[in-house]
Amino acid sequence: MVQIDALIFNEIPKGKPIPGQTLKKVQQELDLDAPLQDGEILVKTTALSLDPYQRGRMRPEEVESYVPAFKLGQPIDNFGVGEVVKSSNSQFQKGQRVYGYLKFQTYQVVSKEATAGLRVLENKEGLPWTNWVGAAGMPGQTAWYAIEKLSGLKKGESVFISGAMGPVGQLAIALAHKIGAKVVASAGSKEKCDFLKNELKVERVFNYKEEDPNQVLAAWNKEQGKPFEVYIDNVAGPQLEAALNHIGKRGRIVAIGAINDYNGEPYGIKNIFYVVGKELRYEGFIILNRMTPELFKEFYSEIPPALASGEFAKPKEHIFNGLDNGEAFASLFDSQNSNFGKAVISLE
Ligand SMILES: NC(=O)c1ccc[n+]([C@@H]2O[C@H](COP(=O)([O-])OP(=O)(O)OC[C@H]3O[C@@H](n4cnc5c(N)ncnc54)[C@H](OP(=O)(O)O)[C@@H]3O)[C@@H](O)[C@H]2O)c1
Repeated sequence: MVQIDALIFNEIPKGKPIPGQTLKKVQQELDLDAPLQDGEILVKTTALSLDPYQRGRMRPEEVESYVPAFKLGQPIDNFGVGEVVKSSNSQFQKGQRVYGYLKFQTYQVVSKEATAGLRVLENKEGLPWTNWVGAAGMPGQTAWYAIEKLSGLKKGESVFISGAMGPVGQLAIALAHKIGAKVVASAGSKEKCDFLKNELKVERVFNYKEEDPNQVLAAWNKEQGKPFEVYIDNVAGPQLEAALNHIGKRGRIVAIGAINDYNGEPYGIKNIFYVVGKELRYEGFIILNRMTPELFKEFYSEIPPALASGEFAKPKEHIFNGLDNGEAFASLFDSQNSNFGKAVISLE
């Protein structure tokens, strides 16, 4: 028997998640020598992703949504990377790293059914394992799908990207630049804005807590001699309203997320009629429903090599070492001290 750490869903939050209350670290016992059932694998967890959508899973189980609710008293789960320590499944060998849904536990037995959702990571590119839940994982797929498959962004156009220091924002910037588009990006602190400007070479950066997005976008349009064509929306709220005010005719808005609204009453957009008046295309999507085997093939052949070769900037990650009491997860919504880059727990 060994003692393992697990992060339990302890209480449904009413607002922002509270460390130690919403999520709680507990110790459990696991017999690493116990024989596995047919098809099971024993995994030592390497990295676990913290994603804003997990807030939506912290709800009563009977409330329907596009992803299942977490079960009270049980470990939460999400995308992660783990090392196969023991296998009773011919698809997986000891020593391989796998990517997919894992429990927030330091070790875990993955059932035969659950192994079907795991992908073996060859990592020929030699990326840090944490990258595989960020730029090379679900958030990266989201940015890639938004820019390459939905936005129709073209060379010579400009794109406004909110929530720009997160993993979705960072890769969206790299992909927009690759196309030959200019980027206006927003984030919530001076340090993040400096990084976006100096490291990611974003053409116009602003701190949405200090500058009015309406003024920034109006000035940008004037400077360019035409309005921006695309908005990649990670946040909704006042920045979406400003984007609707200033985007050009027949512009495209890709709705990825609405983090402004995840912990309270929705903001309530007042100028939605611009979707009609400006003949906008306004489309949302859930990446888990969109990635087909062909798209995965395309994504994995394009993005990890571009990260490894240095064609795209090294992803900025905020690594939390070890399982905590939910502080790492709470950072996603902390207006004073939020994650600086992709939030990920490393258990190596
Ligand atoms: N549709 C899909 O399938 C899909 C898939 C993945 C992600 N998403 C969504 O995409 C968005 C970005 O995800 P991510 O993984 O890259 O997360 P992320 O940017 O790391 O999310 C956390 C960040 O959000 C910002 N934030 C928090 N509250 C905010 C508010 N009220 N207004 C504006 N920004 C706020 C904070 O940065 P600041 O310091 O800049 O405020 C914080 O560091 C999220 O909305 C997420 O839910 C959607």
